[in-house]
Amino acid sequence: MKILMVCLGNICRSPLAEGIVRQLASARNADWEIASAGTGNWHVGQPADRRSIAVARSYGYDISRQRAKHFNAGMLEEYDHILVMDRQNLKDVLKLSGNNEQRKKVRLFLTGDLEVTDPYYDDQLFDPVFLTIEERAKDLIKELSQKI
Ligand code: 4NP
Repeated sequence: MKILMVCLGNICRSPLAEGIVRQLASARNADWEIASAGTGNWHVGQPADRRSIAVARSYGYDISRQRAKHFNAGMLEEYDHILVMDRQNLKDVLKLSGNNEQRKKVRLFLTGDLEVTDPYYDDQLFDPVFLTIEERAKDLIKELSQKI
């Protein structure tokens, strides 16, 4: 199963979701491919934001080797599940979709129509954003495990 996490810059939120889900899934021996991408292309090729790398490290996750990628329409074919951090990401991803099969793969990462706050402009947000993503990641893995 191939899972893609999407945010705007692919340096703050989606790299956290990618790293957390990869580590938790591999601890459960789930043979999944996890990746992340941004709807914007400013940071392509760069590591995650140092604040995301630091908060992840403080909770026992290493995301330092991940590099930012730009979301493209081909990813709607390539991935089975595309989980986006906010409603603008949802709009931008769906704009590139070509059919209902692809659109069905796309949803918000959080449940209850909630968005993951963009922490980019506020250092204080990285810790709560990490905890929100980690909590949801655990349930998401349980949910997706039942689909195999
Ligand atoms: P992300 O946060 O979408 O969680 O990676 C952002 C990172 C960079 C920018 C915006 C949001 N930016 O405008 O460069």
